[in-house]
Amino acid sequence: MNDSSLSLDLPIRLRRNRQSEAIRQMVQETHLLPSHLCACFFLVEGENKKIPIHSMPGVFRFSIDLAIQEIEKMHRKGVRCVLLFPVLENHLRSSSAEEAWNSDGLLAQAIRAIKKAVPSMCVMADVALDPFTSHGHDGLVNEKHQIMNDETIECLIRMALMQAEAGIDFVAPSDMMDGRVGAIRKALDEQGYHHVGIMAYSAKYATSLYGPFRDALNVNLAFGDKKTYQMNPANVREALLEAKLDEEEGADILMIKPALFYLDVITKLRHQTNRPIAAYHVSGEYSMVMAAHLAGYLDAQKVFSEAFLSLRRAGVDLIFTYAADLVLPLL
Ligand code: PBG
Repeated sequence: MNDSSLSLDLPIRLRRNRQSEAIRQMVQETHLLPSHLCACFFLVEGENKKIPIHSMPGVFRFSIDLAIQEIEKMHRKGVRCVLLFPVLENHLRSSSAEEAWNSDGLLAQAIRAIKKAVPSMCVMADVALDPFTSHGHDGLVNEKHQIMNDETIECLIRMALMQAEAGIDFVAPSDMMDGRVGAIRKALDEQGYHHVGIMAYSAKYATSLYGPFRDALNVNLAFGDKKTYQMNPANVREALLEAKLDEEEGADILMIKPALFYLDVITKLRHQTNRPIAAYHVSGEYSMVMAAHLAGYLDAQKVFSEAFLSLRRAGVDLIFTYAADLVLPLL
């Protein structure tokens, strides 16, 4: 290396800034902290339940008591946010989804119990009907099997108010239909819930990557697909419009979902908005890495932390993930 006869005449050598761990840390442009991670939880009725999810190795459906233990553990390690998904028993599902706003239901109980046990954890939940409908769609459906936009809003408002009453910090409208954020903001404010935030699933794509999530929730679409409400993966301008509308309607955080296939969308949104941006590293993204890990092809912990760092580099503030626990030891 020091043999000058072999040296190139190179005044600029970018490798100088990579030559030691100290220098690499000094010039690191992006960082991943525990507070950037939001942990997603699947919840079931009962006590002392920890049920594995076949298509998501390492992820479980927890009863509320065990979920609280996990959430306390994560809070001690610096995670500041959890997103809750109730796994409904089939008999609680219906075409009108009333269970979605049951103030004694699993989700309401979970919100109350978690806020009581770990008050400083930010608790979020989806506002969408799909865990609660018998057909698996996110909205009410008419005889022609159309998913109804305006008729569904009353259900979503009830659901958001139920969550607010239970003590939620952020509601997360996730059905990708029109007018959700504005209607929910208005209803929350009218009832005095000015402090409850809205994280909008602004650009949620009709991806093939939600399969394991539907497995976790035991949700099967009885007919059709979600392409009349979720976005076409081919579109980016439309995502920016969706995000702009949500922002104008009062969204506090804007989400892009899935995450890694949509880094361009994230970066473009970063240039459009001064609101915080979240990305949802979804079930399929999790399961692909875990499958390769279990086959011995790669190291899931390292891949997840690189994935999340890449999301930060692209412009993301918050990362929703099933792999928080796995990545935390590296942070
Ligand atoms: C509900 C919802 C879905 C996900 C989060 N909220 C599924 C869907 O829209 O079908 C998927 C999350 C994941 O795959 O991890 N609207």
